[in-house]
Amino acid sequence: MSSIEINSVLVENRLFKPSATFTAKARLKAEDLEALYKRAEEDYEGFWGDLAKQHIDWHSPFTTILDDSLAPHYKWFTDGTMNVSYNCIDRHLENKSEKTAIIFEGETGDTRHISYQQLHDDVCQFANVLKAKGINKGDRIVIYMPMVPEAVIAMQACARIGAIHSVVFGGFSAESLRDRINDAQAVMVITADGGTRGGKIVELKKETDKALSKGCASIKNVIVLKRSGQDITMQDGRDSWWSDTIEGQDKTCEPEWVNAEDPLFLLYTSGSTGKPKGIQHASAGYLLNAVITNLWVFDLQDNDIFWCTADVGWITGHTYVAYGPLAAGSTIVMYEGAPVVPDAGRFWQMCEQHKVTVFYTAPTAIRALMKFGDDYPNRYDLSSIRLLGTVGEPINPEAWMWYHTVIGKERCPIVDTWWQTETGAHVLTPVPGVTATKPGSCTLPLPGMAADIVNEDGKSITEANTGGYLVITKPWPSMVRTVWGDDERYVDTYFPKFDGKYYLAGDSARRDDDGYFWIMGRIDDVLNVSGHRLGTMEIESALVANEAVIEAAVVGRPHDLKGESIVAFVICKGDRPVGDDAEKMVASLRNWVGEQIGAIAKPDDIRFADGLPKTRSGKIMRRLLRTIAAGEEITSDTSTLENEAVVEQLQGKV
Ligand code: PRX
Repeated sequence: MSSIEINSVLVENRLFKPSATFTAKARLKAEDLEALYKRAEEDYEGFWGDLAKQHIDWHSPFTTILDDSLAPHYKWFTDGTMNVSYNCIDRHLENKSEKTAIIFEGETGDTRHISYQQLHDDVCQFANVLKAKGINKGDRIVIYMPMVPEAVIAMQACARIGAIHSVVFGGFSAESLRDRINDAQAVMVITADGGTRGGKIVELKKETDKALSKGCASIKNVIVLKRSGQDITMQDGRDSWWSDTIEGQDKTCEPEWVNAEDPLFLLYTSGSTGKPKGIQHASAGYLLNAVITNLWVFDLQDNDIFWCTADVGWITGHTYVAYGPLAAGSTIVMYEGAPVVPDAGRFWQMCEQHKVTVFYTAPTAIRALMKFGDDYPNRYDLSSIRLLGTVGEPINPEAWMWYHTVIGKERCPIVDTWWQTETGAHVLTPVPGVTATKPGSCTLPLPGMAADIVNEDGKSITEANTGGYLVITKPWPSMVRTVWGDDERYVDTYFPKFDGKYYLAGDSARRDDDGYFWIMGRIDDVLNVSGHRLGTMEIESALVANEAVIEAAVVGRPHDLKGESIVAFVICKGDRPVGDDAEKMVASLRNWVGEQIGAIAKPDDIRFADGLPKTRSGKIMRRLLRTIAAGEEITSDTSTLENEAVVEQLQGKV
């Protein structure tokens, strides 16, 4: 873990207060927020206990709020029993059975509206399928699906019977899928023939077959949704069509009343080592933060139409598509395709058509769409939108201002939400009817979220604009419970410092004069490419697994649209490839990484040299590589390098 560097400190003086119109209708007013902070301050456990009673329907109530006897393995509401799917669906049936739960649109324009009653029936039917296939509580099921309602149905069906799902993003390759299946020892894959994105078919079943052909002995069943319609192969005895399996299944299924701490799902995410970690979330605690943030931060009210553009393969698609908004009884929009099909107006056309009121997306999408100009959004009536949100990476003030003026028409608050797969839900974010926002800042911690910025000794940094470690100093209900199968890695990764008392987020941050938080970047070797987390070591491991490669180092380079792009420095066997050979090798290695991990991990730039710049003790000089990747002038002394000549090769000078 490197020490913290403070590069440039941006001082932002523009302050945007929520309009009186917004505040008047907002769920949380300044005095409500104040009361929540006060309660959390005075009685931390009581604060969470009250919220858990208020927002979760319990089958049997809890008597313990927080059990910290095995810290940092914290447990919440441990002796209570409940069911997440019941809380997302059944509890709305009395008053909202005909309310639309999901508005779905495919890339080619096919739409479906699914009511809460229909969702209940579909989830129950599919839960019965899972049971019929022998799935038991605690079994792991991998979901590898396009962004269609059945992905949510599958997740909810797992939750209904207490099975643990692990959703694998459809853009990941067979190799990544196989690693995740094996790590979780999953017994079933739920997939589709394919999905559609950018006019092309994403061959999900073919990739599944590839993954399973290379040894996934734990898998007994594969259920395949027919979506894209191309020919695929089905293996007798193992594979069945979704439509066949649900035939004749009952549309009711008594929920499995699980313990609050029973795992709800695993979600694999990249860290600073080669192997992605299975982040494990618990049932009740996760649901609690998911519900309250949908209510407090997205201000969801009865007639809202909420569109979070994230795929269910990421945590955002779990908390703000598949679970939280449904638990809050809201209507969500799901879209299967790409944002630029048929053109860069697609998101805005859909906002108009479905009368979206709350819109949540990633800065990378905003930057990409901003590039196409104002004409696209200006063609559509965006007056239904009342609140905007961003997540995944710092948003640059220019993109924030475009979002604010061109999309929000200067009417809509913007919630820049900082959180992580591990936090389960928002941590630092404006509360839209209350917090004045600044372009680029995720502002302040929510009530009950003890976020702080500390120095090497764990002391809170009170000086303005001084960077430090972003930590959370108290446990919270939706925190990661462990790394699947590796308690030690959980402790080593998230509680390595400060006597194991503070959760270490892995980001550096600073506070400005108003105490607002500004995220500065990662402190580990994790890249953020288009809002997606990728470990440099993961990509390096993929590269060195290629027979032509001896050694590789991967670093990030600032990128206008993606935030960061991937640069790989590679040492090949034999002579350093140059000219045509180099071009061919670049293409082959990019493909290779695509196959090993997925297209999102393909390096944008690959450079070859006879060796990597290393200190005499053999350490790769990553900081120097970052300078070279960015095309910046090297100001540090390179004379201590083991092999000074390689620097010019990597710079492309020789
Ligand atoms: O570096 C932070 C960045 O994304 C990381 C978490 O990535 P992941 O677990 O994939 O979850 C992304 C969606 C929650 C963080 O450690 N990040 C996330 N949101 C923001 C952010 N950086 C700055 N501002 C944000 N709003």
